[in-house]
Amino acid sequence: MRLVVITGCLGLIGSHVTKLCLEKGWKVYGIDNCTYAANIDLISKFEENSNFTFRKQDISKLSYIPDCDYVINIAAESHVGNSIVNSTDFIQTNIVGVKNLLEVIRNKQNNVSDLPIFFHFSTDEVYGDISSGEHTEEDLLKPSNPYSASKAAADMLIFAWARTYGIKYNIIRPTNNYGIGQYPEKLIPISVKNLMRGKRIKLHDEGHPIRNWLHSSDTATAVVAIIESGASNEIFNVSSDFEQKNIDTVKKIIHSYFGEEVDIEEYIDLGHNRKGQDVRYALNDDKIKALGWIPKMNFDNEIGHIVEDYSTKFRW
Ligand SMILES: NC(=O)c1ccc[n+]([C@@H]2O[C@H](COP(=O)([O-])OP(=O)(O)OC[C@H]3O[C@@H](n4cnc5c(N)ncnc54)[C@H](O)[C@@H]3O)[C@@H](O)[C@H]2O)c1
Repeated sequence: MRLVVITGCLGLIGSHVTKLCLEKGWKVYGIDNCTYAANIDLISKFEENSNFTFRKQDISKLSYIPDCDYVINIAAESHVGNSIVNSTDFIQTNIVGVKNLLEVIRNKQNNVSDLPIFFHFSTDEVYGDISSGEHTEEDLLKPSNPYSASKAAADMLIFAWARTYGIKYNIIRPTNNYGIGQYPEKLIPISVKNLMRGKRIKLHDEGHPIRNWLHSSDTATAVVAIIESGASNEIFNVSSDFEQKNIDTVKKIIHSYFGEEVDIEEYIDLGHNRKGQDVRYALNDDKIKALGWIPKMNFDNEIGHIVEDYSTKFRW
């Protein structure tokens, strides 16, 4: 029986990882501070499984985690645009929060149980952008915005706590995630929300930035593959092998929403730029593929029902 603490269990990726761990019969101690990005309806849904325990806590303040095999840290402030407006919460959760979790693990008694492995969610954004080719796990970190800088800083803390205090870790760096359960600030749900309100979809930098789209259920299987491999003190890039320009993503959303070909010019607004915009992220993920993991979800097959789901739900 595996015991895992999952922080951020009510967010997009955290909810998919929690669901998969419970399906595997693992015991999950879910922690979430219930910020605006949390799907709070999931608490009662997960609690239908007696292997799930929930605690509403802030990772930067908590002082206790139960005996477990892994602390899977998925909690974060995750939206780049918000970090450009005000980075205070990003520093607090993404850096101070990680330092606090490392300290809580370090200070656990290890004379009755081994200390858990700290399994941390980093991001493809820590490498910065790349116009051609792919970043490998050995590449330098060169973040472009306050969000990715806070994530890169957390990775550095983990290396230091591993070297100085012997904390074991794994770091996963996935590409852009999509799926059901994402707060409508990210591209797919905010596009659907704007279409529902008769408003144009605002695309930065004329929709040219390229993103690699990874379904959160594939991210969840990547987490399990790493855990089941027994790896520790390793970094794993995780990618979907499917990239497209943001404008092409939005075209597919618009066509799915209307169920037919329409003139997309009527539904988009190209007059915006994002400060520090990254033009393309791309990862080499041969290392996790060598564990036997492969992404199963196909963006073009999934987008229709994801758009339908967001069309029928309204989140403030
Ligand atoms: N979404 C992506 O495209 C993507 C890509 C690569 C990496 N990541 C990383 O994956 C992780 C999860 O991303 P996501 O998109 O699922 O995020 P999300 O914004 O959907 O969810 C984050 C969750 O963390 C919780 N949370 C925030 N601050 C907290 C705190 N101080 N204490 C406890 N809980 C807190 C929120 O309530 C929310 O439920 C993040 O670390 C992010 O940096 C995300």
